[in-house]
Amino acid sequence: MNVRIFDIEKDHAAIKADLVRTFEKVLSSGEYILGREVKSFEEAFAAYVGTKYAVGVASGTDAIKIGGLALGLKEGDKFVTTPNTYIATAMALSEGGLVPRFCDIEEDSYNMDPGALEELLGKEKDIKLCVPVHLYGQPCRMDEIRDICARYGVRIMEDACQAHGSRYRDRNVGTLSDAAAFSFYPTKNLGCYGDGGIVVTDSENTFTRMLMLRAHGQSDRHVHDIQGFVSRLDELQAALLSVKLPHLDEWNEGRRRNASLYDRGLEGLPVSRPVTIPHAFHVYHLYVIAAEDREALRAYLSDKGITTLVHYPTPIHLQKVYSYLGYAEGSFPKAEKTSRQIISLPVHPSLREEEIAFICRTIAEFYGR
Ligand SMILES: Cc1ncc(COP(=O)(O)O)c(C=O)c1O
Repeated sequence: MNVRIFDIEKDHAAIKADLVRTFEKVLSSGEYILGREVKSFEEAFAAYVGTKYAVGVASGTDAIKIGGLALGLKEGDKFVTTPNTYIATAMALSEGGLVPRFCDIEEDSYNMDPGALEELLGKEKDIKLCVPVHLYGQPCRMDEIRDICARYGVRIMEDACQAHGSRYRDRNVGTLSDAAAFSFYPTKNLGCYGDGGIVVTDSENTFTRMLMLRAHGQSDRHVHDIQGFVSRLDELQAALLSVKLPHLDEWNEGRRRNASLYDRGLEGLPVSRPVTIPHAFHVYHLYVIAAEDREALRAYLSDKGITTLVHYPTPIHLQKVYSYLGYAEGSFPKAEKTSRQIISLPVHPSLREEEIAFICRTIAEFYGR
């Protein structure tokens, strides 16, 4: 049996006719950039998340960059995130001259450890922004993070690129900070058919800056007040996302069902299963287990036709690009250990129960059970 890690065609099979119709509608509309489709999707997405404003941009990376700059960060300002995220969390901001700092993670949830955050903010008083990443679809411990950041006067921007529809204490991620970034990379829980992203906020002032930043710093036609970029979600992607958004909750439920099948199927095996923190509604962008003999297990699964991935094999502080920051092996022991052990298993909503049973059986076989 061959099981793919992602299967977008299968996930979207039921809405293919709607997607094709929408594609043709946009094609014949003659309007391709910042038109009705983008505006209508921005409104729908803001309403779904529960923020006042949303600004569609060209990628999740740009959503982080535009969010950080809209919050007023300037070249040389420091921000903190965790080292076990996709490189974009840090690079989106370091590209604009901001300086990354890192704090370690919790070994069980793999998300930002509030204790480690507090220790860092106590030592480095000039950190301006905290970027907690709701990794794999699980919200961070936002009560503690918000409380610590409030005490140190640090603003927060959530990296919700993997967490569309995830909740903390019944509030959607994206509403728990000053601004939040989402990615619509095709394999995400809500993905488009190319690159796309969106940045949300409740602040009118931040929203206005976001609009300017995505369109050449323009405040009015041919009036350019600040340094900006060109980073727009296009009409076609926005229209296709509008078709998909109403299905997000149902797809997330599919992921959650698959995760609970794995939880039961892997019970008693020498692998760590995902741990959900209190008050979290996890949407399993990825179902990530940890195994000491990771490489051998992955090779065994691959031989049996099961594709797995590692998110992520090298913590960011050990990437060459950030060697100038002065971190080394041992700087963040929990993130480093995690990066050596984690394996992402297929969890997409169209995965069948037999496929999950086959994967669990194959893992059991690997351990001689
Ligand atoms: C945690 C995280 N942050 C940022 C990004 C960047 O998003 P994009 O690929 O849309 O630029 C991604 C997605 O790849 C991500 O997973």
